[in-house]
Amino acid sequence: MANIILKNKVTNSSNILVITENFKNEFNLPDKVNDYIIKELAQKDKKTLTYNYIGKYISIFIVEKGKEISVLNEQLRKHGSVVADSLNLNKGKDLYIYNQTKQQSLSLFAAEGMVLSNYQFIKHKPTAEKNKNTLQSIIIANSNIKQSHVDEFNIICSATILARDLVNEPVNYLNATDLSNAFKTMGKLSGFKVDVLNRKKIKELKMGGLLAVNAGSVDEPTFSVMEYKPNKPKNKKPYILIGKGVVYDTGGLSLKPTLASMDFMKCDMAGAAAVGCAIYAIAKAKLNIHVIALVPATDNRPGFNAFAPGDIITMMDGSTVEMLNSDAEGRMILADALHYAKRFNPELVIDIATLTGAAMSAIGTFGMVGMGNISNNLKNKLHQSGINVHERIAEFPFWDEYDELMKSDIADQKNIGGALGGSITAGKFLAKFTNFPYYHLDIAGPAFLSAKDSYRGKGGTGYGVRFFFDFFKNL
Ligand code: BES
Ligand code: MN
Ligand code: ZN
Repeated sequence: MANIILKNKVTNSSNILVITENFKNEFNLPDKVNDYIIKELAQKDKKTLTYNYIGKYISIFIVEKGKEISVLNEQLRKHGSVVADSLNLNKGKDLYIYNQTKQQSLSLFAAEGMVLSNYQFIKHKPTAEKNKNTLQSIIIANSNIKQSHVDEFNIICSATILARDLVNEPVNYLNATDLSNAFKTMGKLSGFKVDVLNRKKIKELKMGGLLAVNAGSVDEPTFSVMEYKPNKPKNKKPYILIGKGVVYDTGGLSLKPTLASMDFMKCDMAGAAAVGCAIYAIAKAKLNIHVIALVPATDNRPGFNAFAPGDIITMMDGSTVEMLNSDAEGRMILADALHYAKRFNPELVIDIATLTGAAMSAIGTFGMVGMGNISNNLKNKLHQSGINVHERIAEFPFWDEYDELMKSDIADQKNIGGALGGSITAGKFLAKFTNFPYYHLDIAGPAFLSAKDSYRGKGGTGYGVRFFFDFFKNL
C-alpha cells in the first residue's frame, strides 16, 4: 500500500498537488510556468489543472467557496484518484500535497483517494510485475495536520484494501476456513479476539440455516466470533456487526447462469470482509467502543446432499423455513447469526450482505440499501456516516405489509417473497430473528464493480469498512 506521510520541512519535491482557492506560487516555479498556470486558471470554470514539465507533475485543484464539506471531500478523493493514476503512468514514486486553504483535512481526503486508487490485485498474475504501480509515498507537506489524524487515514485505507483482497480472492484460494484464518491473523495484528466455531460446534448449536446451505459443500462451514473490547468502553451493551460470508454462491440446486451472474459470486462474502476489516480498523485505531463481529461462512453449491427447493429447515431459534429457492441462501445463514447475537444483549445489530439482486436493480452501484427497526436518531447517524465516506444509504420502507409476503402454509416462513420488493422481503425475513434494535444493509450493488469507478476501483471495493469506522468514531 502507498503510505501517507507527514513532513513539515520540504525542500525540493518533484510531483505536487496544490489544493487552493487562489493559487500562489510557493514552489519556485519558473515565471513562464507560473504565468501559464495563472492564465489557464483564469479561464471560466477551470477547476483543475494538470501540468507536466521536465519530470515534474503539477496538479492544481481549485476549492470552490461555499461547497458542502462532504461534497468537497469526495471531489478530492476523486481528484486524488486521477492524480495517482497519472503518476503511475509516469512511473512517479512520490507526491507532495500542498494545501493553501484553511481546510487542512482536505489533503487527507485527496491522499485517501490516491491510496485507494493505487490498489491492485495482481498476486496471481506474475507477468503484471512490470505494470506494478510505482506510487509509494504521499507526503502531506507544510500543514498543521496531526500525526494521529494521518495514522487514522492509513489505518482506514489499509483495512479497506484488506477487505478488497479478501473479496477479490477466488473460492479456490479462500474457502470458509481460509476466511476464518484470515480473521485470526487480523485479530493478532490489531488486537481483537477471534473465536472460530467449526462444523461440530455449529451442529451442537443447531444452526440449521448455516448447515442447510453448507449441505452441498465438501468444505466445512465456519462461524467466526470477533470481539474488540477496550478497558473502559463508552458503551455498556456491545454493538454487533454481522457479515454475510458466502465464499461462493453458485445458487445451489437453483443454479445461477454463469454470465454476469455466477461468474462474480466470489464477492458474496463482501459483507464478511467489511465487518472483519472494520473491527480490524477499530482495534488498530483503539476506538473506545465495545464491538463484536459475527460471520457465518460457507460456499453454496449443488452437491449430492444439497438442500432441495421445498425442504423445510429448522433454524437455530427453533422456527421453520420452507426453502423454496436455494439461491436465497444468504438470509438462511444470517438468520442463525442474528439469533446467536441475542446472547450478547446488544445495543444495536447491523448486518451487511450482498443479499439481493433486487437491491442492485433498485439503486445500481452508487450506494447501499438500508432498512430496519431503529430510532430516527440512530438512522440519521448511519445516514450521516454514509454521506461522510460517500457510501450512502438509500433508506427503504420496512412496512408490516411486507411480512405477509414471507408467510408459508407449511412452515413459519418461506425463504423467498414474490416478484416485488425483493430486497425488503429479504430484510423482513431476517428481522424475524431479532429482538433488539436492528438495521440491515444490502450491498449487492456496490460491493464488486465490473469497471473501475474512480478510487473504488474494479472488482472488490471494500464497501462498508470506511462506513463502519466513521459511524463508531462519531458515536
Ligand atoms: N448473492 C446473491 C445476491 C447478489 C446478486 C449479490 C448480485 C451480488 C450481486 C444472493 O444470494 C441471491 O442469489 N439472491 C437472489 C434471491 C432470490 C432467489 C430471492 C436474487 O437476488 O436473485
Ligand atoms: Mn444466492
Ligand atoms: Zn448469495
